[in-house]
Amino acid sequence: MIVAIDGPAASGKGTLARRIAADYALPHLDTGLLYRAVGAARLAAGGDLGDVSAAVAVARTLDLAKFTEEALKAGPVGEAASRVAAIPEVRSALLKLQQDFARQPGGAVLDGRDIGTVIAPDAEVKIFVTATPEARAERRLRELLDRGETVTFDDVLADIRRRDERDAGRGAAPLKQAPDAVVLDNTLLDKDQSWLVAVAIVERRRAETGT
Ligand code: C5P
Repeated sequence: MIVAIDGPAASGKGTLARRIAADYALPHLDTGLLYRAVGAARLAAGGDLGDVSAAVAVARTLDLAKFTEEALKAGPVGEAASRVAAIPEVRSALLKLQQDFARQPGGAVLDGRDIGTVIAPDAEVKIFVTATPEARAERRLRELLDRGETVTFDDVLADIRRRDERDAGRGAAPLKQAPDAVVLDNTLLDKDQSWLVAVAIVERRRAETGT
């Protein structure tokens, strides 16, 4: 069974994907980490984030093990990831790795922006997780403050709006709901409630598809 979980920044899709993967004993890939790693490497090199050939070279030889999750989740890396993710050649360089992960025997859970539309259009389960920008900014703010970063709600909200606009507006694999995805709006739900709704969606699809 392939479970595709897409949605905008800080929608809670990562938490949900990890939990579903654990429940169904499936391997999980947070595909945002791939783009974050490319963005982090380009930031560390001090180069121009719009430099296509430099970003593609990083994507082609990417080794996620060289990055800590801590470093990849830092505030500025999200913005850098969204810049390099808009480069079609960077997306192509990361395509096979994601498709191979999705198609492994037994299935997998992947979360990102284009899993249900591009990476695994044949996924048995597609969930589009979303919430209002304000609710997402509130959650991301708490995460960043817990990590010791100095940020304000307004900064986080502006970052989220900018990333939403870039991710949804780009030509290559834009953030959008697959026509056959089920929308899970968790603006008014806590993590446990969100998870219960997601499990119900998975179970319904398992019954429908016989997986
Ligand atoms: O999900 P996360 O916020 O970690 O993703 C960071 C950035 O990586 C996103 O803003 C988006 O631009 C990009 N991304 C993408 N496609 C994916 C996953 C992430 O374009 N499948």
